Amino acid sequence: MLPTSVSLFEVGPRDGLQNEQPVSTEAKIALIDALADAGVSRIEAASFVSPKWVPQMADSGEVLRGIDRRPGVRYSALTPNIKGLELALEAGADEVAVFAAASEGFSQKNINCSIDESIARFEPLLNRAKKAGVRVRGYVSCVLGCPYDGDIAPSEVARVAEILHQLGCYEISLGDTIGVGTPIKARQMLETVAQRVPMPQLALHFHNTYGQALANILACLEAGVRVIDTSVAGLGGCPYAKGASGNLASEDLVYMLHGMGISTGIDLRKLASAGQQINRALGRTTASRVACAMGF
Ligand code: HMG
Ligand code: MG
Repeated sequence: MLPTSVSLFEVGPRDGLQNEQPVSTEAKIALIDALADAGVSRIEAASFVSPKWVPQMADSGEVLRGIDRRPGVRYSALTPNIKGLELALEAGADEVAVFAAASEGFSQKNINCSIDESIARFEPLLNRAKKAGVRVRGYVSCVLGCPYDGDIAPSEVARVAEILHQLGCYEISLGDTIGVGTPIKARQMLETVAQRVPMPQLALHFHNTYGQALANILACLEAGVRVIDTSVAGLGGCPYAKGASGNLASEDLVYMLHGMGISTGIDLRKLASAGQQINRALGRTTASRVACAMGF
């Protein structure tokens, strides 16, 4: 059955901008503030990773310190290790996120270690975050295919998701990092994971490389998921997944949900305007079909 409301987790300022041309700190802050003004209440605003690996995110501390914090909005940061967590806490992140992969090949390329090693790194991070009273979200990448290892078994996705859940991650976001999934496979993968992690603690994070994300999300909404990660204007890609495009554009999901009578709390025009503003700063055109149709 379809829900009456869905929660969007906006990843454009992080997942999007980490793979676009570098943009000024002011433009990032303006984007995050415009998203909050549009009614987006969960925003991944920063990433405390090695600046040698991802130079686009090197000013994450200044970004988090510079935003005009809106009540009711949670600002999150990606943190691969304790060093990242400490920097995120200093900068005032409301919550943090760790990321593991369902494929060995991607884990090595993305964070330079095996799946099990990455999970071992997260244990002290989760303990420290708990002491600081900060919630931790967990990502699992390559849930529907890997650029290096090919097909991924849903049971392997479920194994990694369950470990992150048992370690204390409050929500597990399932990433189709290279956007290769199709609806039946996406739904089967979600249902397999939901046998090990309760559905209310699962989210979807589908890149739109093959244009399947909206269809995949609809199939998964019917299976019970209620939290979806999207990127305004379809910003982004993935530096370690050649050819991958950004997440599904936030505008496209909001339009579909509102059209089906499902509320999001988001003002679509203001959202599209936030996308237009960052596109201008980047000198790119929107990847959102809806924003394009609305003239943004
Ligand atoms: P490493 O080289 O294996 O580790 O990197 P290291 O511990 O030897 O550190 C190397 C250097 O990085 C050192 O500096 C550290 O101090 C520094 P040096 O001594 O050479 O000057 N360093 C840091 N600096 C700032 N912040 C930190 C930090 N940690 C170490 N937190 C590491 C390991 C994980 C750090 C590295 O591989 C890395 O940063 N990778 C970035 C990967 C990344 O950001 N990928 C994109 C995000 S994941 C994603 O997009 C997928 C997702 O969207 C879901 C999906 O789509 O499926 C989440
Ligand atoms: Mg991603």
